Amino acid sequence: MKAFDHSKYRPTLAPALANRQWPSRSITKAPIWASVDLRDGNQALLEPMNPQQKKRMWALLVKLGVKEIEVGFPSASQTDFDFVRWAIEEKQIPDDVTIQVLVQARLELIKRTYEAVKGARRVIVHVYNSTSPVQRERVFGMDKAGITAIARQGAQWVKDEAAKYPGTEWQFEYSPESFTSTETEYAVEVCEAVMGVWQPTPQNKCIFNLPTTVEVATPNVFADQVEYFHTHISRRDSVVLSVHTHNDRGCAVAAGELALLAGADRVEGTLLGNGERTGNMDMTTMAMNLYSQGVDPKLDLSNPDEIIQVVTECTDIPLHPRHPWFGELVYTAFSGSHQDAIRKCLQQQKAGEPWSVAYLPIDPKDLGRDYQAIIRVNSQSGKGGVAFVLERDFGLALPRWLQIELAQVVQKASEVRGGEMDPATIHNLFREQFIADRDPVSLTGYQLDRSAGHDAIKVHVVDRGVKVTMHGEGEGALSAFVDGLMKHGKSKIAVVDYSEHAIGTGTNAEAVAYVQINIDGQRVSGVALDHDTVSASMKAVLSAWNRMQAEVAQRQKVA
Ligand code: KIV
Ligand code: ZN
Repeated sequence: MKAFDHSKYRPTLAPALANRQWPSRSITKAPIWASVDLRDGNQALLEPMNPQQKKRMWALLVKLGVKEIEVGFPSASQTDFDFVRWAIEEKQIPDDVTIQVLVQARLELIKRTYEAVKGARRVIVHVYNSTSPVQRERVFGMDKAGITAIARQGAQWVKDEAAKYPGTEWQFEYSPESFTSTETEYAVEVCEAVMGVWQPTPQNKCIFNLPTTVEVATPNVFADQVEYFHTHISRRDSVVLSVHTHNDRGCAVAAGELALLAGADRVEGTLLGNGERTGNMDMTTMAMNLYSQGVDPKLDLSNPDEIIQVVTECTDIPLHPRHPWFGELVYTAFSGSHQDAIRKCLQQQKAGEPWSVAYLPIDPKDLGRDYQAIIRVNSQSGKGGVAFVLERDFGLALPRWLQIELAQVVQKASEVRGGEMDPATIHNLFREQFIADRDPVSLTGYQLDRSAGHDAIKVHVVDRGVKVTMHGEGEGALSAFVDGLMKHGKSKIAVVDYSEHAIGTGTNAEAVAYVQINIDGQRVSGVALDHDTVSASMKAVLSAWNRMQAEVAQRQKVA
């Protein structure tokens, strides 16, 4: 038998759902968020959180604005029990926050759970049992009636115990665990049995929480299951419909989102997605997805660095650098065409206007991230990234043709050195490569005469140690200088492109000139800086000229 054998598996069955509505809906408001970081997330850790870590996580969740927080499984863990007692006795629960506790449908555990939450103002008691065929048949050895009886009995115990503590406002939650693998009609049937005990009302709703305990199908199948439940459960106005998705197929967030379209009101998840196996649904991702669509997520995620720090320190699980929205690399473009597009869009983006920047679905500044992190340059970068860095850090607005030339230089250097190129290295490469106005020919002075209706120039240079004065004429100083150089160098020179701009202001201002000339049929580029614009333009031509001399010398050497 083959080891890697797909024929071993069967597809997950979806409920027959006629006339499904969810595909044509959109999400227009945030769900009720319920954090399970301190329970599901904590249970999944190699080293469960210690009391200090639990307190830190709790404080963060409260700070972010989570209003329903599952604080633990107090009947199963003394640490959880003590944590709940601390929160209640030390009055750590804000008025608008409700704690939630999980318990199995077993009397002694339910009793212990109520002891743990004694004295709390408001509590959600969350009871569950498993309902799928594999759990019924292989784990519990029971038929549907037996499983329904466990749920009904658990609901009854939860209700009876609550009656002993009238000072607390109780809300009951039931999860048909392994819902996604349960026949959906049967999940409805079990929840009806539970509802029969709890008798919820629109004023005191119960919560039915549908978990993808193990994610076994595409999110559309889960959406169908949720919509089936939403449209078949009775007394829908007395039910808060909750979902609790896991990430086995990498779709926990998508499944949660489609479930909202399908009628869910509430979502259970964790910050950054810690949880059993591949994790619980990441609330931060879902919230940021909403935010990026212009929907108020009702969570304050403006300081992801704090979230990352607390969560990673409490879970000891590092954040992937490409984690949606919060990863270190998510506002960084390596590809040249991406960088080019980002640069252009950012230049056109105006304050107060709707965000419209290619490759950046949100403004990184919203998350305290900087544009500094957007562009990194390595061997994959094109002209855009290089140009962005030179303009941003050195005020150099390179013409397009020079961007292309420089990008190739940077790319080559990056391939040789390996890894990223920092802005200073790019700047040095640029200067070394294109500014060559000293050797073999350097400019020492000039006199420009504009009296004859055109420009006549007398230029003093040192050529290979020899002082020379060149004379030229033309329409403008640059063409007059080129005329002089042609005569002196006995070459045909044409200016292909020329541009200049100032760097800085006031007395420190400098002109930078970029020129591409054609010398005897060959194009070459040159750049120069000078406090005087005319000098800068002539030096740029000399840079190009000198570069060509160096290239010729090199060719002769090789030959
Ligand atoms: O994943 C799950 O099914 C659970 C339940 C207890 C809700 O965590
Ligand atoms: Zn879970």
